[in-house]
Amino acid sequence: MDNTLNQAYSAEEFRRQGHELIELLANYLAEATTDKESVQVTPWQEPAQQLAYWQEDFTKPATNPLALFQDVMDKSIQVHRKRYVGHQTTPTLPITILSSALMATLNQGMGVYEMGMVGNTLEKIMTEYLAQKLGFDQEASGFVTSGGSLGNLTALLAARAAATDIWNAGYKDGQQLAVLVSEEAHYCIDRAARIMGLGSEGIIKVPVNEKFQLRTDLLEQYYQQAISQGKQVIAVIGCAGTTSTGSYDDLEAIADFSEKHQLWFHIDGAHGAPAAFSPKYRHLIKGIERADSVVVDYHKMMMTPSLSTALIFKRGSDAYKIFSQRAQYLWTEQDTEEWYNGGKRSFECTKAMSVLNVYTIFRTHGEEVFRENIEQLYGLGTTFASMIKANPAFELAYEPQCNIVCFRYKAEGDLSSLNKEIRRLVLEEGRFYVVQTILNGQSYLRVSLMNPLTSEQDLEELLQNIEEKAASLVASEI
Ligand SMILES: Cc1ncc(COP(=O)(O)O)c(C=O)c1O
Repeated sequence: MDNTLNQAYSAEEFRRQGHELIELLANYLAEATTDKESVQVTPWQEPAQQLAYWQEDFTKPATNPLALFQDVMDKSIQVHRKRYVGHQTTPTLPITILSSALMATLNQGMGVYEMGMVGNTLEKIMTEYLAQKLGFDQEASGFVTSGGSLGNLTALLAARAAATDIWNAGYKDGQQLAVLVSEEAHYCIDRAARIMGLGSEGIIKVPVNEKFQLRTDLLEQYYQQAISQGKQVIAVIGCAGTTSTGSYDDLEAIADFSEKHQLWFHIDGAHGAPAAFSPKYRHLIKGIERADSVVVDYHKMMMTPSLSTALIFKRGSDAYKIFSQRAQYLWTEQDTEEWYNGGKRSFECTKAMSVLNVYTIFRTHGEEVFRENIEQLYGLGTTFASMIKANPAFELAYEPQCNIVCFRYKAEGDLSSLNKEIRRLVLEEGRFYVVQTILNGQSYLRVSLMNPLTSEQDLEELLQNIEEKAASLVASEI
């Protein structure tokens, strides 16, 4: 074997570098929770500057990978910082950093049993456990896939398979399928429907109320209108936590509607379905067990690295109808329902054994850690909302139901531009990370409280920081 390959596979080198990397990561984790003034959440650089840096880096001769890893960390947004309150990316539980290393080492294929003997088995155990937690009966089952977007697409394919045989027959002339979905649903639903060939006509967006929940009182009207236009409605989709505002739709009402018209009921619970772990917040997902399919991201509120998504089916056998296909080189029995051959149900062939991360959390910390996380973060959302309401400089966009809170700084003039500028200054400074969203055509600041170590004090400082930025903008205009 060539010298380079020999060296590259050296177990001793790996041991030495591995110890050093663990030191580096442990130091990062230890420092992430401190209140040091110098702590940056994000070392903001313009894309062109970033590109130039890495283009030059790429030309350098091979060096110690530890120096490279440190450099990558220093130049990346750091989601474990207490002042990271931006998108719904979780500060991964440290134990999952270790299980990820094991996952990368074993590099299981998962599509066929022998390439994922443990992984396929853990997927069955974990998804059926989650299904029970959501309130489904013994018939429910599922599998793990790479992300909520792929999970939602797969669920909609199942809905289509239940309604029509387009998988084999293709679309017939003039056939127009459609789905009913909240106008606040994540864009991946729209994308999934377009991938399935539904086009703009097939995505029927139902307006939301003042809490950004789907207006269930309009469902019948929108459905009848679609029917009168010759559309075949195949599914209605509910959100258990919308992305922008964390709003929970009235799942019972949607379930009643879907039963009345015998439509597939899918729930995008990527963010908010884990409320099932908390007796205090479980009421938010009342009716979830009436859905035909549910997506739950382990990598959001369940603290695992991205991507890891559970796709649960009320009737486990529905999952085998999605991708009916022959793959002789993988499975000898093409038409049987074999939970242990992962590729039969999943879009993916080679697939990461990401289930190991959530399984490891259950085994080492127990289910309690999920209850605590939900209750801490959802509670913090309520606290932050109260702080905003108590501060006359700010306006709360709505009463939050979970850990996603939208608000804006109030002043004379164009509030959208002002808040966009504030957000830009906060980002560039790097001490906090907040994001923005558009609600009713206006720009708002948005926080997702994902780190249970973020304190009220941090949030007070965030509001102060925003006020300072606003003052500097107003002063620069004078
Ligand atoms: C409600 C909801 N659904 C789906 C998605 C997409 O999930 P993923 O990023 O895992 O593909 C998101 C992502 O933020 C989301 O918030």
